Amino acid sequence: MNLKILVINGPNLNRLGTREPEIYGNYSLKDLNSDIMAFGNQNNMGITCFQSNSEEKIVNFLHNNGKNNDWLIINPAAFTHTSIAIRDAILSMEIKTIEVHISNIFKREAFRHISYISDIAEGLISGLGVQGYFLALEYIKRSQHEN
Ligand code: DQA
Repeated sequence: MNLKILVINGPNLNRLGTREPEIYGNYSLKDLNSDIMAFGNQNNMGITCFQSNSEEKIVNFLHNNGKNNDWLIINPAAFTHTSIAIRDAILSMEIKTIEVHISNIFKREAFRHISYISDIAEGLISGLGVQGYFLALEYIKRSQHEN
């Protein structure tokens, strides 16, 4: 089966690699996306990567693509802690979702402990660096063989 997967990154993640490297590491978004695409090619997955600093653009992207894809991997970044709009867009698309954070949000400031996404996601990976995206992809790949 050729699984179709959306990978969405929220605000400031376009600055990955240069932004607070002690927290987010040295890997750029360009490198991350190209490694994600390579994983997709090797595993017969159709992956679409999208990043935006705009809540509206993320909501619209979900509306336009949610129904044509099997899974969503999303790092909503700061919108994790604020956006009922992104939560509702995911719910309206009824798409299976894995929430990813590069840092461990529970080790950080209290305002990062609240997520509007976690309770509607299949699962949450937080604090394992950019490996979290590949662990989510690996989970999706392995889930195919369970049924
Ligand atoms: C983040 C954690 C968020 O709290 C923060 O606003 C981000 C990135 C992470 O990947 O660790 O921008 O989602």
